[in-house]
Amino acid sequence: MSIISDDNDIKRTTEKRNEIVKPEVIEYDHNFENSIRPKTFDTYIGQSALKETLKISVEAAKKREQPLDHLLFYGPPGLGKTTLAGVIAEQMGVEIKITSAPALERPRDIIGILMSLKGGEILFIDEIHRLNKIAEEILYPAMEDFSLDMTTGKSQTVKTLRVPLPKFTLIGATTKAGALSGPLRDRFGIIHRLEFYSEDELAQVVKRTAGILNIDITEEGAHAIARRSRGTPRIANRLVKRVSDYALVKHDGKITEDIANKSLDILKIDNFGLDNTDRSLLNLIIDKYNGGPVGIETIAAAIGEDVRTIEDVCEPYLLQAGLLQRTPRGRKVSPAGYKHLKREMFDNGQQNLF
Ligand code: ADE
Repeated sequence: MSIISDDNDIKRTTEKRNEIVKPEVIEYDHNFENSIRPKTFDTYIGQSALKETLKISVEAAKKREQPLDHLLFYGPPGLGKTTLAGVIAEQMGVEIKITSAPALERPRDIIGILMSLKGGEILFIDEIHRLNKIAEEILYPAMEDFSLDMTTGKSQTVKTLRVPLPKFTLIGATTKAGALSGPLRDRFGIIHRLEFYSEDELAQVVKRTAGILNIDITEEGAHAIARRSRGTPRIANRLVKRVSDYALVKHDGKITEDIANKSLDILKIDNFGLDNTDRSLLNLIIDKYNGGPVGIETIAAAIGEDVRTIEDVCEPYLLQAGLLQRTPRGRKVSPAGYKHLKREMFDNGQQNLF
């Protein structure tokens, strides 16, 4: 697996946040994450319906001796889009080149990568909804006809040259399928959404990671971490390391339920997996906007976060957990959100702490 460049992107999306419960952080630990990435469908936990359809697509492509159709994965960050692309490459027996849209700023960036591909290889583009128009237009004939349309000369003497490319598979990943342009979306043969993981699935991820890292953990300890991982394996894996540090320093290194809970309490990750930012967001809507609805820009300015971090990172889980609601007039804290924060709802617009 070769990583061409995604560092800029990771820095950009997370400038303000470096918290353990966020799936994208500035100190993104590629080595750690790569060392524990599953390589086969059998070791990849969760996303079972998606895995079944992908297995069939992979098998069929191998039988036809053709590259896989272009694939688009969408869903919140940290759910394993890159990992799944790596599994597909492994199962197809081909190389994968990994990059992200913000790293493809100049035409020569995307042209360079396309021209470096060998037959059957996979090109993975993260945050593909952020490709600029020129890069998109270079991609269209590359995806459709495996060719590059180059122009030479100036004004009256301009000539278009069609350069053939080897057949390849593009795997695009995005947290925002709706932000993809129609023509780009239409060029993907397979489009799939990744779902949040259940507690049981995350407990399996935790136990697998602990096994690889030689960390002793009980079943209950694994579940305690899984419960507070916001349905996201990338978070679960980070928490395994943090809780393991605590277990080593404060105990004998073994992660039990009690050790996991104590350690996660110190990290201020509550039993829904929410951190201070999530709680501030919900409390702000309750305190300043009577529980909402309130616009996302207003919330972002008030808590000092950028809109994209809230939309892509905080919100999907708060919505899925039923703590926040999205309405045409803005975001609203749900009754479950009030309950979780131990806040009381008043019809007259006043809320109080119990
Ligand atoms: N690590 C991160 N995601 C994983 C998954 N889906 N299965 C196993 N280990 C993982």
